Amino acid sequence: MTDVTKLIETDHREVEALFSQYKEDGKKQTALKICEELDIHASAEELVFYPAVRDEVPDGQKLAEEGNEEHGEARQLIGRIKNTEDTSHLADLVNQLEEAISHHVSEEETEMLPKARDAMTAERLDELGSEFQAAKPT
Ligand SMILES: [Fe+2]
Ligand SMILES: [Fe+2]
Repeated sequence: MTDVTKLIETDHREVEALFSQYKEDGKKQTALKICEELDIHASAEELVFYPAVRDEVPDGQKLAEEGNEEHGEARQLIGRIKNTEDTSHLADLVNQLEEAISHHVSEEETEMLPKARDAMTAERLDELGSEFQAAKPT
């Protein structure tokens, strides 16, 4: 039984660690790992968490729409990262992605997750946690 908001925060910390790793190694492989983790995380949020936020949290519709838009922007950068073989262009794109994700993560953690914790019962947060985990490829 795990609160979905805790699972989301754990994913965020893992992605931040990967951005740090990329700063050390500059490898395309590390950049692709960031892209993969972000895609899995964002897809699970879109499938399980954002719809619940939209329906069950005050201002949830606006929060979920903003989140979806920011996921779209991140996915555009992810597409460009996958398509470049130029090392300095790659570094520039990963830097842009990190800035975008840092803004998005801070909005989720300062607004969306606290509001979900206020609006939902512990049982509901655990139920969404199980669905969030199940939505990810194993
Ligand atoms: Fe997130
Ligand atoms: Fe997100």
